[in-house]
Amino acid sequence: MNIEIERVGVVGCGLMGHGITQICAQGGWDVVVREVDQERLDKGLAKIEKQLARAVEKGKLSQEDADAVRGRIHPTLDYAELADCDLVIEAMTEDLEAKLEMWREVDPIVKEGAFLATNTSSLSVAEQAAATSRPERFLGLHFFNPAQVMPLLEVVRAEGTSDEASDLGFALGEHLGKTTVAAGDNRGFIVNRLLVPYMLDAIRAHEQGVGSVEDIDAGMIAGASHPMGPIALADFVGLDTLASIASVMHEAYGEERFAAPPSLTKLVEAGHFGRKSGRGYYDYSGEKPVAAPLP
Ligand code: 3HC
Repeated sequence: MNIEIERVGVVGCGLMGHGITQICAQGGWDVVVREVDQERLDKGLAKIEKQLARAVEKGKLSQEDADAVRGRIHPTLDYAELADCDLVIEAMTEDLEAKLEMWREVDPIVKEGAFLATNTSSLSVAEQAAATSRPERFLGLHFFNPAQVMPLLEVVRAEGTSDEASDLGFALGEHLGKTTVAAGDNRGFIVNRLLVPYMLDAIRAHEQGVGSVEDIDAGMIAGASHPMGPIALADFVGLDTLASIASVMHEAYGEERFAAPPSLTKLVEAGHFGRKSGRGYYDYSGEKPVAAPLP
């Protein structure tokens, strides 16, 4: 499919949104990225700056190309600037009500014929599509963290998604150099359906005295050749995100293996969201992460 996109909108410039913004700008598209306040916007843009500077330092990107990427990114606090986008990708927190409210506001602003997509990890794509006037042009585009590095894009087809919208998802993945897979609109799609219970089980194993946080992680790195242990990965994904995916999946499937273990709930309640907040199962304040005492 010849991809007819010039301008992409990204709603949210957090952990996922900043990465999606960067790869779309690197893919040659203009990107309008919207955040709720200047502080969050600046934080996300600073992350992009850092990644681009790193790429230039390593000789993977020329200074001119990095400047051109930066020049294609248009930060805003205003939904009205999404009007001219050919595709708008939602990358907000995993809160269905907040997403529905955003779509009700954004759908009438975005030009007719444009596509809308959600980067949700676990929530219903169909339910979000139904909040818009164009469910046939709505799809799930699930990127993985860090979006700049992880090769996968899950293209999620909801009940009303048209062939055209689904084809666009695959073409977009191809344009960005991603491996694409087709996933059904079930809770957790393919990867989180398998990966989330694995992380939760690793946490439960720790709670049950099977091993220390460090030993469980070291075990899976050296024993299964994973790039990162499951508990470090939980911190990396964000404990708030993991807990909210667990809650959605537990409700959907009714199986205990999807339930958030007690220590995960306690950490989230205490505001320890993992790497992004400086503490989770590990403490990130020192030179190297060390296992943190549980609350
Ligand atoms: N942003 C951009 N680039 C990054 C990055 C980031 N946050 N972190 C690392 N990188 C890049 C580095 O620049 C480096 O690039 P290079 O090869 O061009 O030099 C490359 O990634 C490797 O980085 P490092 O050498 O610093 O570190 P590692 O080799 O340890 O790799 C990792 C880091 C890529 C994060 C690796 O540990 C990994 O693959 N971990 C597993 C990640 C994973 O499973 N993600 C999926 C989570 S589930 C999910 O996202 C779904 C959601 O819905 C919950």
